[in-house]
Amino acid sequence: MRRDPQQKSPLALTFRGTVLDVLDQRLLPGTYRMIRCRTHRQVAECIRGMAVRGAPAIGCAAAFGLALAAQERRFPSRRELLAYLQKAAQTLRATRPTAVNLAWAVQRILRVAKEPVSVSVLQRAVIREAERLFAEDQAANRRLGDYGATLLSPNNVIMTYCNTGSLATAGYGTALGVVRSAFRQGKVAKVLVCETRPYLQGARLTAWELRLERIPCELITDNMAAFIMTQEHVDAVIVGADRVAANGDVANKIGTYALAILAKVHQVPFYVAAPTSTLDPQIASGAEIPIEERPAQEVTSLQGVSIAPPRMPARHPAFDVTPASYIAALVTERGIAYPPYGGSITQLLSSGRPSEPLKEAPALIGASV
Ligand code: MRU
Repeated sequence: MRRDPQQKSPLALTFRGTVLDVLDQRLLPGTYRMIRCRTHRQVAECIRGMAVRGAPAIGCAAAFGLALAAQERRFPSRRELLAYLQKAAQTLRATRPTAVNLAWAVQRILRVAKEPVSVSVLQRAVIREAERLFAEDQAANRRLGDYGATLLSPNNVIMTYCNTGSLATAGYGTALGVVRSAFRQGKVAKVLVCETRPYLQGARLTAWELRLERIPCELITDNMAAFIMTQEHVDAVIVGADRVAANGDVANKIGTYALAILAKVHQVPFYVAAPTSTLDPQIASGAEIPIEERPAQEVTSLQGVSIAPPRMPARHPAFDVTPASYIAALVTERGIAYPPYGGSITQLLSSGRPSEPLKEAPALIGASV
């Protein structure tokens, strides 16, 4: 099992130049199996089929997919290599539409592939860029985790949704990265893990990661969140994001919006943690974010067992949009943005580089709510 050296959770992706090993998250926590990919099509299948999931992780997987594509055949000229990469990019981009990290990562690799150099130099450059992107995501998560921890106080109870940990990223995690950093600082009494129907990312993956790290946690079904907020003090809800629009609206796992409404009603601060690769300034508001519709069987069955009458019609929008007005702060590796997000997101994106080390106290961008 390949682990992040600074944490116990295993890595979702392990790249070794000519192969990409994908940890099959569909089987967790019961079975630990790696899928070995040698082609970009195999990587695309892993993304589409949810063997690898989580916005930053699928971005990294797509980047490695292009690194494999660059070596899949002999390319007589630079032009042919570029054409092949562009086709592979299309295949990878078409796998899942909501998380912008995927399109962002593909774009970044294609930019490198346009350099006017020889085929072999270009192949090495594409591989290096994919490795760099992966390393940068890990570093960004550690930084945003430390920024996010400044929002918490000793012995806080935190509620979280879906899986935003090591498994959903290149390592460490976004919302779960905040939990990891805060736990090390004695700020986490307990994490309330929402199970996250229908795919159970909370129950299967987040609970597993937290238990591996011995972070105190309790599993609840999604419909318990409101009651729990009336029964015990929840200090913060922290979630990740798949795409953040220019106005601060956030697309994340289906059910996030319901949790944000509950948090508002019960006056619990609702925080979103995401690297800047998840921000999409091209999109004005959440209304423009494409929402993936997944197969209805994922709703009518649970772990392969049918739980509804035969041929029961069902819907499965995989994400929803939480309006910016519900979000108390947006934690990124460049600092924390507060409402109004139109201004603070622009300011975040125009300041610094994502891979700069954390040198000083967090920059508080915009006014606190
Ligand atoms: O369908 P998934 O499992 O890919 O959805 C994952 C989420 O919605 C996460 O909350 C999001 O990608 C942030 S992960 C750091």
